[in-house]
Amino acid sequence: MIDDIKEYETTALESVAAAETMIQLDEAATAALGRSGPLIEAKRQLGSLPVDDRKTVGRALNEAKARVTDAIESRRQELAEVERAGQLEAERLDLTELLGAPVTGHAHAVTQAWEELEDVFVGMGFHIAEGPEVETDWHNFDALNIPPGHPARDGFDSIYVQHGDSGATLLRTHTSPVQIRTMLAQEPPIYIVAPGRVFRRDTADATHMPVFHQIEGLVVDKGISLADLAGTMEAFTERYFGAGFSSRLRPNHFPFTEPSGEFDVQRPDGSWLELGGCGMVHPNVLRAGGIDPEEWSAFAFGFGIDRLALMKFGIGDLREFFTNDIRFLRQF
Ligand code: PHE
Repeated sequence: MIDDIKEYETTALESVAAAETMIQLDEAATAALGRSGPLIEAKRQLGSLPVDDRKTVGRALNEAKARVTDAIESRRQELAEVERAGQLEAERLDLTELLGAPVTGHAHAVTQAWEELEDVFVGMGFHIAEGPEVETDWHNFDALNIPPGHPARDGFDSIYVQHGDSGATLLRTHTSPVQIRTMLAQEPPIYIVAPGRVFRRDTADATHMPVFHQIEGLVVDKGISLADLAGTMEAFTERYFGAGFSSRLRPNHFPFTEPSGEFDVQRPDGSWLELGGCGMVHPNVLRAGGIDPEEWSAFAFGFGIDRLALMKFGIGDLREFFTNDIRFLRQF
């Protein structure tokens, strides 16, 4: 019977080694260890052996079974590795094919408008300034002559942030706080524009988004007058929009400028586009920025970039910019 066991083991190990797939291995395992296999049959016969033989044969049987089981397990691991390698090879992406392929992406329409505005103002002698999107209440309001309780605060529909004292920190509602930060950081004369993202609790519609973009302008120098403001806006209009466009200032009110104006652009067809606000910087604002209003005077302006982009590209609805539909964005 010992010989039978040896032969059983040899046959079983051979068929395990010959298995090339998991399915073949399962078949070999069932044949070697399964209920109707020779092993179970041999065990059954053990009972009819004399006691002494039963021990020796029983041990030989168990050892053979253990070696066959080990062989099955290690073959299973080998096959698993081969299968995994095959899968990796099959699913492999050859990214080198992309090398040298044309780059099809481009800047978003709003980014294009933003960068073009920067170019025009830099060409007119302005520097680019920046400020944080999360602002202190002081920079966004107080320093701009909008003290606590001022009705203009309500008009801004601010989004406050839980940080520090309640109401002390917000997402900036306009780029005007960059005026304050610039004045505090550098000595006049100052000629800057500050493009950036701003936030208001607005419901999205064709002309409003809770997140949009503005560009702020600030000029601080000796003897700056309303005529300089009007001349700058006119020069900008011609350079940005091209010949046939002109601009006008209409009286308006902002707490941080006095006098204040609305800045409109006239299209060649005669129609008007309201672009933003402007005015002579209020003495309180200059003082908040550490600048003596007796010595220096200043003008500022601020307008929306998104609406400008709408007009430039002839788009009817602001929300289109944010849908991230590649078919839409590709057109601009
Ligand atoms: N900050 C104003 C707004 O968001 C625009 C503005 C800027 C007006 C500078 C006057 C001067 O509406």
